[in-house]
Amino acid sequence: MGGDLIITGGVPLNGTVHIPAAKNSVLPLLAASLLCSGTVRLLAVPQLADVDTSLVLLRGAGCAARWQGSDITVQSMPSVCRLEPEAAARMRASILFCAPLLARLGRVETVLPGGCRIGARPIDLHLSGLAQMGAYCCEEGTRLILTAPAGLHGADITLGFPSVGATETLLLAAVCAQGAGTGTVRVQGRRVLYGCSFAPMADRIVASTLACACAAAGGRVELTGCAPAVYAPLLEILAQMGCGIETGPESAVIVRSGALHGAGRVFTGVYPALATDAAPLLAAAMLCADSVSSIEDVVFERRFACADGFAAFGADVRVQQRTLHIRPVRQLQGAEAAAPDLRGGAALVIAALAARGRSRIADTGHIDRGYACFVQMLTELGAQIEREMPCGSTCEKKTPSKKQI
Ligand code: EPU
Repeated sequence: MGGDLIITGGVPLNGTVHIPAAKNSVLPLLAASLLCSGTVRLLAVPQLADVDTSLVLLRGAGCAARWQGSDITVQSMPSVCRLEPEAAARMRASILFCAPLLARLGRVETVLPGGCRIGARPIDLHLSGLAQMGAYCCEEGTRLILTAPAGLHGADITLGFPSVGATETLLLAAVCAQGAGTGTVRVQGRRVLYGCSFAPMADRIVASTLACACAAAGGRVELTGCAPAVYAPLLEILAQMGCGIETGPESAVIVRSGALHGAGRVFTGVYPALATDAAPLLAAAMLCADSVSSIEDVVFERRFACADGFAAFGADVRVQQRTLHIRPVRQLQGAEAAAPDLRGGAALVIAALAARGRSRIADTGHIDRGYACFVQMLTELGAQIEREMPCGSTCEKKTPSKKQI
């Protein structure tokens, strides 16, 4: 979709949003569908650029993968042991499609995965785990060739770091491997996996985004369909900053009516700690606080590439290694900034929603990779936001809010 987002900030957000399914659940599930002999149907999938890229990868491997309304069906009959290179280079999750093809076809060729440039992001843990299960890995420049002529077998694997992606790769490899894999997750592989219908879990990072937007811009936002337990650390920090938080089993209400206070020192960590993806979003809310905060991301080296954009809004920020230091300013002012990556781009939108006056956020293709109907979702909360496409394209105008209809 792309284009620029034009935002007039300083308007409190009010309303209810049903949180859609999580990108980072949908992508590994689409990769897993490569292993199943029957039809897999994923229910209520958000329309994201990364989901469409996944469909290109599945079709390129010889599968029938298509949208049916808001569901996706995959009939998996992979016959091509090569991932379409342009699509594979576009997103990090393309690496997840390797293990299933390797398991089914004994070989896979791809290019090194792309995705947000938030740190070095090597794939050594994926490859060393697969090697322990019987794969041969060969890297030639940006090309990666994996073979398993004798098939994959179970192994005891200890990851040097609890990597999300490497865990997913090794689970995908293990479920069809001969013999048992052991470790924190114990998998008994089997020859055949069947089709199924499955609703992926809700996106805690989308929920965190809207919670931080409400904290930054003020107002009252109810988030439904997503268990607050999965983003509890973020809600706890927002409560310490002065937001009212009420939670139910599958919903949370965030209220910010008075001043927002700094959070002191905050760290991300591996689940169930504060999510790395939430760090720039929370930082955007911290820009609006009346005392200092600092936030350190222990997972990725370059999480705060959005700091230059924050400074354009008049924020007093400083990046020191993996930590963003934030001092209070009287009021953020509308500005022009470019999304550096997915969550950093969403963080700039949050800053713009809180800033006085008009802002323009460019390079929004990053944001489209992880947020479906972003403009519509925020408009329904009362935000003044629209998408301006380059000359010749159509403009995604604000849609009237449900309250106005
Ligand atoms: N790492 C290695 N070697 C590896 C794999 C990872 O050193 O082989 C390091 C990474 O460099 C990083 C740390 O381990 O420092 C954690 O990386 P992890 O593998 O857990 O991250 P990922 O699988 O690449 C997924 C999400 C990210 C999210 C992280 C952490 C997907 C497609 N991506 O990435 O989501 O930030 O887990 O929770 O699932 C996003 O959605 O914007 C996003 C970046």
